Amino acid sequence: MMISSTKKVDVSYKPVGLFDERRLEKMQVVVAPNAVSGSIAVAQEIAQLIKDKAAKGEMAILGLATGSSPIKVYAELVRMHKEEGLSFQNVISFNLDEYTGLESNNPESYWYFMHEHLFNHVDVKDGNVNVPSGLMADSELNQFCIDYELKIEAAGGLDFQLLGIGRTGHIGFNEPGSQKKSATRKITLDHITRVDAAPSFHGLDYVPRTAVTMGVGTIMKAKRIILLSWGDNKAEVTKEMVEGPITKDLPASYLQEHENVTVVVDEGASKDITRFETPWLVEPITWNEELTRKAVVWLSAAVKKPILKLGTKDYNDNGMSSLLAQEGTAYSLNIRMFNILSDTITGWPGGKPGVDDSRRPERAEPARKRIIVFSPHPDDDVISMGGTLLRLTAQGHDVHIAYQTSGNIAVADHDAIRFCEFAQQFNDHLGKERTGQYDRILEEIKNKPANGIDAADVRAIKGLIRKGEANSAARYSGVKEENIHHLELPFYDTGKVKKAPLSQADVDIVRDLIEEIKPHQIFAAGDLADPHGTHKVCLDAVFGGLEELKEEEYMKNCNVWLYRGAWHEWPISEIGMCVPLHPEELDRKRQAIFFHQSQKDGVMFQGNDDREFWQRAEARNRGTAECYDNLGLPEYEAMEAFRQWDFYKKELV
Ligand code: F6R
Repeated sequence: MMISSTKKVDVSYKPVGLFDERRLEKMQVVVAPNAVSGSIAVAQEIAQLIKDKAAKGEMAILGLATGSSPIKVYAELVRMHKEEGLSFQNVISFNLDEYTGLESNNPESYWYFMHEHLFNHVDVKDGNVNVPSGLMADSELNQFCIDYELKIEAAGGLDFQLLGIGRTGHIGFNEPGSQKKSATRKITLDHITRVDAAPSFHGLDYVPRTAVTMGVGTIMKAKRIILLSWGDNKAEVTKEMVEGPITKDLPASYLQEHENVTVVVDEGASKDITRFETPWLVEPITWNEELTRKAVVWLSAAVKKPILKLGTKDYNDNGMSSLLAQEGTAYSLNIRMFNILSDTITGWPGGKPGVDDSRRPERAEPARKRIIVFSPHPDDDVISMGGTLLRLTAQGHDVHIAYQTSGNIAVADHDAIRFCEFAQQFNDHLGKERTGQYDRILEEIKNKPANGIDAADVRAIKGLIRKGEANSAARYSGVKEENIHHLELPFYDTGKVKKAPLSQADVDIVRDLIEEIKPHQIFAAGDLADPHGTHKVCLDAVFGGLEELKEEEYMKNCNVWLYRGAWHEWPISEIGMCVPLHPEELDRKRQAIFFHQSQKDGVMFQGNDDREFWQRAEARNRGTAECYDNLGLPEYEAMEAFRQWDFYKKELV
């Protein structure tokens, strides 16, 4: 993939508004197949700039960003330096921002980040690296900010600025309210930004409240800008930035006025953009089955009519007349779509024995299936598919649950202290001699510095707490004791929020379990677009195991179903199997989630949603049922949704 600047004449890209009026985007948007290939293309553009400048004996002035978005760009630049001799001797860099109050050796400081990901691994001259200081006394700060601007100007201005985008729409740390002409200054971080940063800081309380950032005006002066946006959770803000009005409430929208900016997104981040979300509204469509389903479901919601009542005018008024022309009549299209959607509903997620299964999501035979449910954290199984789990065990299947990680990082210190004291006092009660071990562990917890890493014993206690909760919930759901597996994949246990990358050791563990059980069905958490989270790594471990086993005879008989994590649900038009829950089943599901006591009442990684996990799960499952109901399908209390994964073709079915 090549990204080409709008300034150069590039026939493959038609600037919006000039040639392609159907698009609503006001900036150049390039959709990369995935974050890795997108990052490599961006790194190539940066490398070319550095080389072009070097050839002319000039310095390349780079504006750099931190955060998760640019990590793979830096990794590729480091690779190019090591393997292809790309030199950074002619690079002067200016970073966008820095938290206040963090020493440069603090792993959460942006100074540390940049050295860890880039500067320590390339030949850039120390004196050419500039990261704003967050340690200035207030009395000196103003002058520091002026000097930062002057230094950029003296270097000749930024040739290139790399950006990420925050969920608030910030670029750098220019939060909503920032003015277009703003310069480098100290700002107060938005609450959402702090919530997003909380996991790396081990809790919201430890996230700095202020930062020093280049201004919007500083960024806009760059000669070339690339903004990176990866993953579903950036989809909404990305659409607003590229299609919405220019407003101080979403500072990234100012970029619409820059003459040489490209937004590079992956599929997840692009999905709300009109051209992808509802393409029939902006351009002629070649209709396929997937788009037809999506469009009909969308139309039903848009005109607030059940599918069977959609009329010719509804289709014509909403950019879908070509679909009608292709399908014949609204009536026949309605019936066809209604049947497809209603066939996704089944109360027999493991297949209904002894019936015609030609229009059911799962096969009838074998009647009693061996099933593995992979759960990334110890509570994802019951949160995401607790009702289905209850059905699978009640319907007589041999259900195994494989907890992929210990989830120890999400246990609060006060819980670890409580359990440690309990163990200590129970030992006293049994008359066992005190070894001082417990006192040492308690001291370790109490003396841990803010934002520090837990000692191995403390991690073990926290892991045991979650193990006990998971075992209780699984037993309650009808899973046999011997079918509960705690895989403790090694990538997870760093003690930090940042995990190690997936390794063969992780894949081996998953593969061995699949090999041992030879399942007819596998359920796994399908957070495909989450670029760096634990769920994605856990899914990659499952995919790795499937890849190694796919030629085995027994695997030809195995269906893989993906559920979504705690936050999102599959879009209605994409659901392949929808399992209805009776109100009493929903109560039992809630009960199973309750066993995860350490994850109740203000958990460590709450996110920007202060509902309890059971509340989120119920709202989500009720929401799915309501959508089905609104489409004119049967009305249920709640529904859990799945999509099938074809591991031979490596695609969603
Ligand atoms: C980082 C910065 C921020 C981030 C933004 C996205 O230097 O200024 O604007 O680019 O918060 O962060 P990630 O990439 O972690 O999603």
